[in-house]
Amino acid sequence: MAEQRTSIHGQWSSRLMFIMAATGSAVGLGNIWKFPYITGENGGGAFVLVYLACIALVGIPIMMSEVLIGRRGRQSPINTMRTLAYEESRHGFWQIVGWGGVVAGFLIISYYSVIAGWALAYVFRAASGMFIGVTGDSAGSMFSHLVADPERLLAWHTIFMVMTTVVVARGVHSGLEKAVQYLMPMLFLLLLVLVGYAMTTGSFEQGLRFLFEPDFSAITAGGVLLAMGQAFFTLSLGMGAIMMYGSYLPKEASIAKTSIIIAGLDTLVALLAGMAIFPIVFANGLEAGEGPGLIFQTLPIAFGQMKGGVLFATLFFVLLVVAAWTSGISLLEPAVAWLVENRGWQRVRGATVVGVVGWALGIITIMSFSGWAFSFEFAGKTKSNGLFDMLDILTASIMLPLGGLAMAVFAGYFMSRESTVDELGMGDRFSYKLWRFVARYITPVAVILVFLHAIGVV
Ligand code: TRP
Repeated sequence: MAEQRTSIHGQWSSRLMFIMAATGSAVGLGNIWKFPYITGENGGGAFVLVYLACIALVGIPIMMSEVLIGRRGRQSPINTMRTLAYEESRHGFWQIVGWGGVVAGFLIISYYSVIAGWALAYVFRAASGMFIGVTGDSAGSMFSHLVADPERLLAWHTIFMVMTTVVVARGVHSGLEKAVQYLMPMLFLLLLVLVGYAMTTGSFEQGLRFLFEPDFSAITAGGVLLAMGQAFFTLSLGMGAIMMYGSYLPKEASIAKTSIIIAGLDTLVALLAGMAIFPIVFANGLEAGEGPGLIFQTLPIAFGQMKGGVLFATLFFVLLVVAAWTSGISLLEPAVAWLVENRGWQRVRGATVVGVVGWALGIITIMSFSGWAFSFEFAGKTKSNGLFDMLDILTASIMLPLGGLAMAVFAGYFMSRESTVDELGMGDRFSYKLWRFVARYITPVAVILVFLHAIGVV
């Protein structure tokens, strides 16, 4: 029965399209903006090590679970969870996983789009030569002027939200997916250029040390939770985005191989971003723990000094926006697909409504950098952008891990062995047993331990 099901929203033309689209979802601001800044705030090496362990032990098995659930259900996450729970004779309550994902998607897109708006603003700053001769100080004030101006932020946020909504309205096979084939490799090349520049700063070694030399005294229990949350966030896990994309995946494609490829590419991009940014930080006497403005206060210095900097800088921020764009669409897709399935709405109407809600919520983040700013303590660090930081912690460190945990438990314990063997398509071999063991025992225990550790129980 499950074999026959197809998605009413379409299907990827090949496994490669799925890899491109899922990598497009995974690689985004999380890799280039967020990874460096939270690594900087949490002391570097030890944080990176925990993050890498979470990608391998928690991220990849959950990605496999999420894709397999999605492909078996072939609907929006809410309906997929409901259908599979029914087929496996489980309680309909499991659809809460889908609902939680929709809520998380709204919350995440609301701040994601504001940050993508910063990147848009920087495209124009780069192109107009504003980075030439910029120093640590002037880059800092350029950034603080931008975020202190809510009207400007609202304008960029609106533009990004419209871009995202338009693509979602057009459906999975829009032109953007094809464009990604060329643009993502270009982003990768530009990161290599930046790493090349970082090598000339004289602080490359110090940057690498910071990233890769673990100093466990620098990381707190809250920091471990942040690292795990980052693994979920950067791989787009735990809210149904990958489940949705899995629902468009052809039956023949190997879920294990594709998940490993996607996680590998995503991790590579994040590490390259770190290798580009920290040498610049140290060479210019800046603070690694600068916060959300980190890349916006460091990269302009590098571009301002290198040959062809105006061109490279413009290209870089354009590609960053594209990377954010392909991630943003996956945040809206589960909610839109549900409206189409259950309300019979046209995609255009669904996307518009969802886009407007995400846009309105974005005001919270915009104001967190000016009028509504306040500070609080978390993980031993002062967070100074009040509601934005809270939204970030609530989604990345709480909702996504809980969603992912539920998916691993559902696939590992509540789906029959036959169903998962069939869907993963690797027979009952060692690789299957390994996945099932990890999904049943390692992943849930790791997630729960990290939570308990963060609240001080263990
Ligand atoms: N992974 C994306 C990034 O790193 C963000 C993202 C897209 C996301 N879809 C998601 C995060 C779903 C969590 C859940 O920029």
